[in-house]
Amino acid sequence: MLKILSILLLLIDVDSSLIIKCEYKKHDWKIIGSLYQCAVINEVSITLPETFIENVTRIQQTDMTENDVQAFTAKYKNINFIPYGLIESFPNLTAINIASCHLKEIHQKDIQNITNLKVLKLKDNDIEMIEKDLFKFNPNWLYIKLKSNKIKEIHPAVFKNLKKLHELDIKGNICCDTEEAISEMDV
Ligand SMILES: *[C@@H]1O[C@H](CO)[C@@H](O)[C@H](O)[C@H]1NC(C)=O
Ligand SMILES: *[C@@H]1O[C@H](CO)[C@@H](O)[C@H](O)[C@H]1NC(C)=O
Ligand SMILES: *[C@@H]1O[C@H](CO)[C@@H](O)[C@H](O)[C@H]1NC(C)=O
Repeated sequence: MLKILSILLLLIDVDSSLIIKCEYKKHDWKIIGSLYQCAVINEVSITLPETFIENVTRIQQTDMTENDVQAFTAKYKNINFIPYGLIESFPNLTAINIASCHLKEIHQKDIQNITNLKVLKLKDNDIEMIEKDLFKFNPNWLYIKLKSNKIKEIHPAVFKNLKKLHELDIKGNICCDTEEAISEMDV
């Protein structure tokens, strides 16, 4: 029985292209004000790196288009890797919030096209490693929140390139639970 079930699950996994179903709505992001966002409502599952978004559909009738979407929010999904094509789907994207999604990895190539983001929030995930050049192509980013992940260590130069950084939150990680650890970082 279990075997049949797992084969079924495997088939579903292989078959599923990444279709994002959104509720389009205004949301107050507090730090940067109200943004029009795509809040993911379907059970997306991203278990492989470089998974491209194939299609974005929305659940309600609205005059707003993908070009009006400023934020992408996913919570309590199974998103192990940053989806590819976010900026192609939402050219005006200024904020990303992927929270409690078992996100395991984030790499420079995942975010190199997202140059004009203001806020990246990845709270409550399973990220263990931050590569030294992660933010090489993102010098304009303002807020980065990596609270409550599993980051073991962070190279002191990781954030150096972020010339406009207002706020960095890396509390609740193995590397950085003390004030000293944070102040040693060259931000
Ligand atoms: C996306 O999916 C919707 C609904 O299934 C479909 O009507 C639409 O044609 C698709 N768009 C693209 C670009 O594939
Ligand atoms: C982004 O938003 C601005 C202001 O709302 C709008 O003028 C512009 O056309 C949008 N960009 C795209 C690519 O749709
Ligand atoms: C970034 O843009 C390049 C060129 O358009 C494209 O080949 C690549 O897949 C994009 N990367 C992501 C993560 O979307």
